[in-house]
Amino acid sequence: GMQSAGKLMKVFITRRIPQEGMKILSAAGVCEVSQWDSDEPVPRAELLKGIQGAHGLLCLLSDKIDAEVLEAAGPNLKVISTLSVGFDHLAIDEIKKRGIRVGYTPDVLTDATAELTVALLLATARRLPEGVEEVKNGGWSSWKPLWLCGYGLSGSTVGIIGLGRIGMAIAQRLMPFGVKRLLYSGRTAKPHAAEVNGEFVPLDTLVSESDFIVVSCSLTPETQGMCDKSFFSKMKPTAVFINTSRGAVVNQEHLYEALSSGQIAAAGLDVTTPEPLPTNHRLLTLKNCVVLPHIGSATYSTRGVMSALAARNLLGGLQGTDMPSELTL
Ligand code: NDP
Ligand code: DGY
Repeated sequence: GMQSAGKLMKVFITRRIPQEGMKILSAAGVCEVSQWDSDEPVPRAELLKGIQGAHGLLCLLSDKIDAEVLEAAGPNLKVISTLSVGFDHLAIDEIKKRGIRVGYTPDVLTDATAELTVALLLATARRLPEGVEEVKNGGWSSWKPLWLCGYGLSGSTVGIIGLGRIGMAIAQRLMPFGVKRLLYSGRTAKPHAAEVNGEFVPLDTLVSESDFIVVSCSLTPETQGMCDKSFFSKMKPTAVFINTSRGAVVNQEHLYEALSSGQIAAAGLDVTTPEPLPTNHRLLTLKNCVVLPHIGSATYSTRGVMSALAARNLLGGLQGTDMPSELTL
């Protein structure tokens, strides 16, 4: 092969990852792996140390890969493979400037993330966590006509912000619930929207006409803080807001105001800023806010497939061959 024994390329892996990926790396026999062997994030100092001289980096969305990390790595670094589809944690300009290739994990987590989004939407709209709590704390005194009522999808208007891979999979799953209109917004109209009768509308129209708003766009300078005071003020007071993209798309102070004042009905968040959300955060004091710990892609099989794909991307970058999923920089 390209590399003779004793001239193995160095790889740093920032976390314990599913064995599927580790097996692929060891079977390839081209790299010497060092790893932050923990379920918890690598401390910044350990990342800066571990990456020194590395040819490849396998990282997670919790690792901020910026100029400092790239400088610490030095000139060997050829490839960064992230165990995620989102890449807002990577300083793309700095990476591109240095001619480093990037691998990511699109498609393989689309179904799992869309399923979780539907689960979160239903849990939030039908107040499942509140109901479960009432069963446990004795608040369930009788069947009551006006108790724990929520909102249903049948006959509703759903607005999806970012009809990409995941947004489209969410739309396909929601339509069979009897959704009447499916609106979406984004930078460009999507031909595939026809499959779900999606109407491309300006963001303001989506916000004011939707009964359910689902955020599934990527985090970019343009989408950062997009869901703010002005956004929430245009929503119907009966509308439900769901975010499974990135926490920074939402201004959480403004969301808190909208939820606590009754300006909007409820919110379900799988992503927050920061992550973890501090346990004393005021969003967690609200009954109409359901917060999950970023588990969109968390099925056993999806995480295994993500791990395998991240390993193959890494190997492609190390060997200078095709990567199964290379990000176009
Ligand atoms: P895609 O790139 O397929 O979709 C992203 C969409 O965002 C595109 O359709 C893009 O539309 C849209 N978008 C970009 N800018 C804007 C904007 N200003 N307004 C509205 N929409 C915009 O990615 P995926 O669907 O695969 O993933 C989407 C995101 O979901 C990831 O970036 C990640 O952050 C998040 N994610 C979260 C998970 C979780 O665990 N909760 C799991 C997996 C992903 P256009 O082409 O028109 O710009
Ligand atoms: C991603 O891949 O971007 C998710 O947030 C985690 O799977």
